[in-house]
Amino acid sequence: MRTPLIAGNWKMHMKIADALDLVTGLHYGLRGAKAEVVVAPPFTALYPVAQKLENSFIDLAAQNMHYENKGAFTGEVSSDFLTDLGVHYVILGHSERREYFAETDEIINKKVLKALEAGLKPILCVGESLEQRERGDAFKVIGNQLGKNLNGFPLDAPLVIAYEPIWAIGTGKTASTQEIQDMHQFIRAFVGEFLGNSLAQETRILYGGSVKPDNAKEILGLSDVDGALVGGASLKVSDFSQIVNAAK
Ligand code: PGA
Repeated sequence: MRTPLIAGNWKMHMKIADALDLVTGLHYGLRGAKAEVVVAPPFTALYPVAQKLENSFIDLAAQNMHYENKGAFTGEVSSDFLTDLGVHYVILGHSERREYFAETDEIINKKVLKALEAGLKPILCVGESLEQRERGDAFKVIGNQLGKNLNGFPLDAPLVIAYEPIWAIGTGKTASTQEIQDMHQFIRAFVGEFLGNSLAQETRILYGGSVKPDNAKEILGLSDVDGALVGGASLKVSDFSQIVNAAK
């Protein structure tokens, strides 16, 4: 049985006071939730949020990390710094990191392996552009990303994959339920072939891209959808709570 996971990716939003208000609201609003709930604040709010959530069921993710432990990497944050704060998950390979910060599949692969070594659970994001989908290349692109990003992944490590079609992120457009189910099924089959069936059955595959309270139930009800990675709608207690409560 895969426990559904709903993760909020706050991106570059939320100063400390707003972040604390949001997690306080979620903590009280979501008691008894059936899904696992994770929030990914910006680095500047991680420590205060970690302290606030010390005795909460809500878990913490970082939005990125470097693949080296320490050293002369100005502006970067290592996996050790994250575990030091009590962070358990890390979002890796988000399309915004790939596109705006030139993260290659090889860099993402190093980050995935480093995260595991540090005891962090990676939430690996993959997704195709609109052009790639229209060309009929969506499955090829996702297979290629997964093969490269998961190179050397151990067969018994925790894995969360977020399928986020780039054209659906922050645009208000979601993939159709058929497109989502087909891609999630493909991803599970790919992981099965690449890393074995037992890992494939345990891997949680989240959908991301304009998940909102009014489409969450339909998306989260699909058989190969094990949760959601939510951007915009994770910034409001009521929206995010409705999405969490829509998880099967
Ligand atoms: P969105 O973002 O929900 O605002 O589309 C999702 C994401 O980028 O993870």
